[in-house]
Amino acid sequence: MSFKVAAALTVALALVAPAFAQTDVDILNFALQLECLEGEFYNYAVGLGGLPASARGGGPVPIGGMTANLTAAGLTLAQEVAFNELQHVQFLRSALGAAAVPCPLVDIGPAFAAAANAAAMPANATFSPAYSPYANDLSFWLGSFIFEDVGVSAYLGAAPLISNKTYLGSAAGILAVEAYHASLARFIIYEYGYTPIAVNPSTTVSLYTVSGLIATLRNTLGGGSGQNVILPSGAAGIVPVDSNSIVIPRTPAQVVSITTGGTAMKGLFFPNGLNGNIKG
Ligand SMILES: *[C@@H]1O[C@H](CO)[C@@H](O)[C@H](O)[C@H]1NC(C)=O
Ligand SMILES: *[C@@H]1O[C@H](CO)[C@@H](O)[C@H](O)[C@H]1NC(C)=O
Ligand SMILES: *[C@@H]1O[C@H](CO)[C@@H](O)[C@H](O)[C@H]1NC(C)=O
Repeated sequence: MSFKVAAALTVALALVAPAFAQTDVDILNFALQLECLEGEFYNYAVGLGGLPASARGGGPVPIGGMTANLTAAGLTLAQEVAFNELQHVQFLRSALGAAAVPCPLVDIGPAFAAAANAAAMPANATFSPAYSPYANDLSFWLGSFIFEDVGVSAYLGAAPLISNKTYLGSAAGILAVEAYHASLARFIIYEYGYTPIAVNPSTTVSLYTVSGLIATLRNTLGGGSGQNVILPSGAAGIVPVDSNSIVIPRTPAQVVSITTGGTAMKGLFFPNGLNGNIKG
């Protein structure tokens, strides 16, 4: 490439660069990729074949996405969530302009089964059949529960790192939406908490047990004290908060640790890790 062409390109890129600081670009790109993960999951589950290519921004087709076996009532609720997540991806892409990264490779199939088995490991149990969030309504909301609490804590953890107040306001708005979603998933699990789930060795555990194991695994991998949907006392535990009833934040590194299943910065839901400057 000639120097003149390169210089012209540099100028062109500078002109379309967003109006906020580089660190904000990093944070918004990090948020964008969490939205890619959620957006792909829900938009497969409701039968749309995942995010449209434009929302992927040149990113690859996910691993393991499929249409979920949802009841009519479950589908209606899932469609609302799916549309919100698609719009979050589109909003962040538009805010970032040319600085937006492509969606990374996401695993929204085998990774769910692996996460469920990892959660059940302390009890020496595995799910049989393997856990799939696409199997029925409750499986789907359990999948939603796995993601949404992480999203809420991630936006709170990122908020103090955003310098442009316009985007801080937008992040607050997205956090609230994720919290509505988390609350929906947590309430449905709470309502059907005694539903038996088959595990190996041949026995069943309740949905409550499974959601509790997942909350514990998230805390182990990514810190925080996220609680089950029901407390040991039997009281409702829909809202995971600290002693001031404030949601518990997680740093980007903690969020990456949860979504990649450890500290290697790639694996589980992000098999190749993240794009952009914040990788864990
Ligand atoms: C924040 O971002 C908005 C939207 O891109 C922009 O209009 C505004 O100038 C930015 N503010 C600062 C202080 O950079
Ligand atoms: C799981 O297996 C380990 C090693 O075999 C054993 O020490 C532990 O007690 C088992 N835990 C449960 C809950 O059965
Ligand atoms: C779909 O889910 C319903 C429960 O909502 C269940 O009865 C049915 O067996 C499921 N179908 C398949 C193919 O898994």
